[in-house]
Amino acid sequence: MCGIIGINSNKPVSANIINSLKKLEYRGYDSAGMATLYNGLINEVKSEGRVENLEKNSLVQNMEGTIGIGHVRWATHGLPNSINAHPHSSQNVSVVHNGIIENSTILKKFLIGKGHKFKSQTDTEVIVHLITENLKTENIVNSIQKTLKSLHGSFALGIIFKDQPDLIVGARRGSPLAVGYGPNENYLGSDSYALKSMTNKITYLNDGEFCIIKKDYVEFFSEEGTKINKKVLELSSTEEKYDKGDYKHFMVKEIEEQPNTIKNGINEYIDMSNKDINIYNFPWRSDEISSITLIGCGTAYHSCLMAKYWFEEITSLDVNIDIASEFRYRKNRFKKDTLYVFVSQSGETADTYAALDLCKQSGVKTCAVVNVVESSIARDSEFVLPIHCGIEIGVASTKAFLGQILILYILALKLALLRKDIEKSNFDKKIDDLKNLPKLVEKTLLIDNKIQSISNTFNEAKGSMFLGRGFSYPIALEGALKLKELSYIHAEGYPAGEMKHGPLALIEEGMPVVVLAPRDNYYKKTISNMQEVIARGAKVLLITNKSKDEVISENIWEKIEVESTNEDLLPFLLTIPLQKLAYYSALKKGYDIDKPRNLAKSVTVE
Ligand code: AGP
Repeated sequence: MCGIIGINSNKPVSANIINSLKKLEYRGYDSAGMATLYNGLINEVKSEGRVENLEKNSLVQNMEGTIGIGHVRWATHGLPNSINAHPHSSQNVSVVHNGIIENSTILKKFLIGKGHKFKSQTDTEVIVHLITENLKTENIVNSIQKTLKSLHGSFALGIIFKDQPDLIVGARRGSPLAVGYGPNENYLGSDSYALKSMTNKITYLNDGEFCIIKKDYVEFFSEEGTKINKKVLELSSTEEKYDKGDYKHFMVKEIEEQPNTIKNGINEYIDMSNKDINIYNFPWRSDEISSITLIGCGTAYHSCLMAKYWFEEITSLDVNIDIASEFRYRKNRFKKDTLYVFVSQSGETADTYAALDLCKQSGVKTCAVVNVVESSIARDSEFVLPIHCGIEIGVASTKAFLGQILILYILALKLALLRKDIEKSNFDKKIDDLKNLPKLVEKTLLIDNKIQSISNTFNEAKGSMFLGRGFSYPIALEGALKLKELSYIHAEGYPAGEMKHGPLALIEEGMPVVVLAPRDNYYKKTISNMQEVIARGAKVLLITNKSKDEVISENIWEKIEVESTNEDLLPFLLTIPLQKLAYYSALKKGYDIDKPRNLAKSVTVE
């Protein structure tokens, strides 16, 4: 997952390229680079690490040129260093790329045979030399079309040419790409977020399309090379101002924003006075849906798993879930009466988007649950349920997770009511309980000091387990993922009842184990599982909810009690201490909390 920017202007572009790359850093941050056209030459500068390293380079500070491209990288082929950073250039062509060229090895052999010299270990470099080779016999449009046809795999490309000093070419297959329109300049970008500081007029390319961007107009072409017209969308606002404010990191800001984001989600969909749920323009009658399949990756997959429990509990629908990278290669039996729901914060995750594309090709019902409403997954689904959490910058998803499960819970309630799977009185009670959720989240956020001290034990351990049953099991998985991706310590989420079937062998003296045991139907069983790990030396952090009943607390290392509420809503509250545990663990280790190593916010490659 990388970020691309291109600017064709009547004034110098280097400063705007650098600013746009900073907005794209969430897509990849192991190296960065840019290239401009000036005095008939391609000037290329690249650096390892963050965009600020590139910005500090004196060559960038004095970079001339009114046409340029830039790139932030998340390495797929080749080490994250300045040689492998993009752009990749020959004397005549410079290219930035997001995606994976699957036939790069064969193409490289062919091009070396033609005398081309390679400098990097990347797949991208074959594109540079392929275009250079095709330009020997074809004009720009034909050489681009011919090159794209030879590439297998996915790409979003930005290309500039030494001998074409007035244009930038963009091309898309499988990785998102947008064109933006400004005063006497036009833009190319991986997504609208990179362009929003310059324009809110955007055109999205579809797979197979390419474009030629001049500073005063843009031409679009189909895969076959014929000219096509494309819509210009006007986005809601040119840019959502978003910074850390008084917080040390975006992640902790986003954790603390959760009472508001939950409130936003509730206000968007729930009519409290009439105790009803408004999902406007839902395109299907409830009797057209007899099953639901939920698909996502990472935290979004955990949202799908959480929703499965709610849908099964509240509706009579059959519910399936799948990890997107598995679903897309499975021998799926697509059903007309199944609603396929794609959960994705960014709306750009390649595996989830590929799963959506498969469903679209099969003509089945598709619905997106996303945070970015201009994203590819939102645009290409039949129906969108936005989660209204505002921009989430921290790579480790927090407010978006609670936003996703909230909207999925609301969808389950709505479908249950429409299908008469739930009594109106029970429905009304659940709506009332939801009204109090933001306040309960706010109170739960106050559990802070204890978690800071507890996090030391997790940091000193060589690994930990997170256990839960029923509604708590998806939260156990999410808590383990947060700790893994932020503190780089092994942590495993597991069904509490499954420990005796193998993983109990992992338990040793002093091993920290989080046990999620709210007083729900699974409480007693989970407490027995807790005793099993304590008996083998585990240091148990019990997370439960406040109750007048005495907690079975002998031999427990630590206990955290969240507020009590309707059992359906306890997962929201149980999540918060786990988000904070991961945050404080990483804080103590001094790791980069908003941009953990090896990760990126939007995984736009498979
Ligand atoms: C979550 O903390 C991770 N950053 C990651 O698992 C993420 O949830 C996953 O990559 C899916 O991203 P999406 O929601 O944007 O599709």
